[in-house]
Amino acid sequence: MILGLVAFAIGLVAAATIGQILGVRRRNASQRAKLLSILGVEQAETKRIVGFFHPYCNAGGGGERVLWAAISAIQRKEPDVVSVVYSGDTDTTKDKIIEKVKARFDIELSPKTLDFVFLESRYLVEDSTWPRFTLLGQSIGSMYLVWEAMTYLIPDLFIDTMGYAFTFPVVSLVGNIPVGAYVHYPTISTTMLSRVKSRTAGVTNSAGISSSAILSTGKLLYYRLFMYYYAYSLRQARFIMVNSSWTKNHIDSILAHTDPLLDAIHLLPPLVLLEILSRKRSECPKTAQIAYPSCDTRQMSVFPLAGRERVILSIAQFRPEKDHAAQLRSFHKLLEAHPEYGGQGPSSAKLVLVGGSRNVGDATRVEELRLLAKELDIQDQIEFVVNASYPQVLNWLSRASIGLSTMVDEHFGINVVEFMAAGVIPVAHASGGPLLDIIVPLDRQPTGYHATSPETFAEAFHTVFNLSPEADIAMRQRARTWAVQKFSAEEFEKAWDESGWRGWL
Ligand SMILES: *[C@@H]1O[C@H](CO)[C@@H](O)[C@H](O)[C@H]1NC(C)=O
Ligand SMILES: *[C@@H]1O[C@H](CO)[C@@H](O)[C@H](O)[C@H]1NC(C)=O
Ligand SMILES: *[C@@H]1O[C@H](CO)[C@@H](O)[C@H](O)[C@H]1NC(C)=O
Repeated sequence: MILGLVAFAIGLVAAATIGQILGVRRRNASQRAKLLSILGVEQAETKRIVGFFHPYCNAGGGGERVLWAAISAIQRKEPDVVSVVYSGDTDTTKDKIIEKVKARFDIELSPKTLDFVFLESRYLVEDSTWPRFTLLGQSIGSMYLVWEAMTYLIPDLFIDTMGYAFTFPVVSLVGNIPVGAYVHYPTISTTMLSRVKSRTAGVTNSAGISSSAILSTGKLLYYRLFMYYYAYSLRQARFIMVNSSWTKNHIDSILAHTDPLLDAIHLLPPLVLLEILSRKRSECPKTAQIAYPSCDTRQMSVFPLAGRERVILSIAQFRPEKDHAAQLRSFHKLLEAHPEYGGQGPSSAKLVLVGGSRNVGDATRVEELRLLAKELDIQDQIEFVVNASYPQVLNWLSRASIGLSTMVDEHFGINVVEFMAAGVIPVAHASGGPLLDIIVPLDRQPTGYHATSPETFAEAFHTVFNLSPEADIAMRQRARTWAVQKFSAEEFEKAWDESGWRGWL
């Protein structure tokens, strides 16, 4: 009896949903025609529409640069494609956005093959809407937000550029269209899951208070379910692009994530519906492809390579993870092992720390670093440049010999790219982006150095200072050639095309 009622209720909800979906699909043709006529497009039947899901498209950050660079490339190369951006920036207009993109990124967008769909329910994906269970709340919020998007317009290809993977099943179901994604950062990672797992084990083992054990078991279950559905959603995509090796490693391991118990549960009704509606696992992408965002290196890539001063330059906000103390210690080791770099003589070296200080925490850190420099008795050869202006940064980049980065496991490291483009030889911690993506050999010849401890950093400094003039110039040139080419707009467009997005139109 109860079972019958439940089945009836599920049937009712399903019927209502199907009714809604059919309604949205029926409106699709007229909505499309309206959009194309507003744009003044001729031969509307030959046009294809690519929808970009980017609710914060007016934010002006790195993620937005990727979006506009992609659209601008499509506009130049594919006159028959109309790009539509689903945005929640209801307080602005198409013309204002195009203007801002030009001013902020120097990217030219044509109004003829670009339009916007403004969404009302963006608050559903805002952090502040979900003080608890933020991940879950935002994910469900994004599903509703994309439903709103689809009621305005169903494109021919849907590309999410902001990391809302939970929208993919909704779009597949409502629009019956292919989905692709450009991912900057995984919503949840397998390392997060295993960290929660090991903490749970720890709590249970220590026979701690049972309530906290229940709490962390609950948390584990939450993460486990979240990971399961996140992987499920990602697999609905036909192609996935990522912005770095770091993100690729995470996304690849999520695509390979399995959970036999949850798989088994999904063979039972009504969950089995999910399996029936989803794409077969064998058709899903196994790995993500890297399309590095382009970096603007125009100004620094013309600095002369010769005549560099013995300056070791660090450019990093005074945040704890940047590990500025390690920079002071490395410099101290250099002076200890090679006293000739000390004092004020002709061969004396200098460490310059350029960086922003955002708050009291950062300012305190700067004071502590000054104290540490005194303690190590190297303060006369250290210069702090707090809150440097951009011209000041460029000036140091044009003079320095070595660029230093000590952060461990940095996801990327745009400062290292800038060092290299400026002709500054990079010495960076052997991990993360600087190891995997940035300081890699060109024609089997090094473009910089990696280190792990104050001793090895000091050794690398000494090596650079003792390069023969020819080797020195050659290495600076290699570093520049590599950085400018690999992180150029052309390379980004090439990688974007290699994702095969066009094949899905
Ligand atoms: C939407 O309309 C276009 C053009 O009329 C058509 O090709 C497409 O199949 C429609 N999509 C859906 C989901 O009905
Ligand atoms: C990729 O995106 C993340 C998150 O926005 C960012 O921290 C990282 O620097 C980006 N990597 C590149 C290569 O831009
Ligand atoms: C640096 O800038 C921040 C905010 O822009 C400000 O609060 C701080 O006082 C500045 N610090 C210095 C040393 O100029």
